[in-house]
Amino acid sequence: MLTGKKFILGITGSIAAYKAAYLLRLLVKEGAEVQVVITPAGKEFITPVTLSALSGKPVISEFFTANSGSWNSHVDLGLWADAMIIAPATAATLGKMANGIADNMLVTTYLSAKCPVFIAPAMDLDMFAHPSTQNNLNTLRSFGNLIIEPETGALASGLHGKGRMEEPEKIVEYLQHFFSEKKN
Ligand SMILES: Cc1cc2nc3c(=O)[nH]c(=O)nc-3n(C[C@H](O)[C@H](O)[C@H](O)COP(=O)(O)O)c2cc1C
Repeated sequence: MLTGKKFILGITGSIAAYKAAYLLRLLVKEGAEVQVVITPAGKEFITPVTLSALSGKPVISEFFTANSGSWNSHVDLGLWADAMIIAPATAATLGKMANGIADNMLVTTYLSAKCPVFIAPAMDLDMFAHPSTQNNLNTLRSFGNLIIEPETGALASGLHGKGRMEEPEKIVEYLQHFFSEKKN
């Protein structure tokens, strides 16, 4: 059902970034073409080599390519995609997206995207529950973005609560459902 679909997978600096590799693998297995865009902080959590090997495309992170005078076009990328999926989405990135703070390639691409945008937050329970995060999520909902709610369970911090990024299989099911509904 996702065959031939073109996706931007946005990855941010969350401990859940390791799950993005599996999500990418599943999307490619489903026949989708996936371009990864990762924040500078995201690269501290998962290596671009892994993501580029799984997607078959160079990973985009910076605006400029060192010393060559070339740059990555967020506008072209935003127009290319059938959907943008930001998984995991940190509290910092949610805040930037909600407020148009386009200081990295991921948020700039988000602002240029004309396609549906799916957001899978991942953070500690108190960060997720904070009114700032909830306000940002409500703002993003009001823009028509689709929030894939985090699960309640054990968190990397050792605490227990709502904030775990939804499992990759469930995110794929969510996308399949969305595109099947769209077809009918
Ligand atoms: C070990 C570690 C784990 C982190 N995990 C998360 C997380 O799951 N969610 C989150 O919102 N921030 C998390 N942070 C904080 C973000 O990495 C930080 O806010 C960063 O600036 C996010 O940048 P980005 O959104 O541009 O990727 C973590 C930081 C560290 C050091």
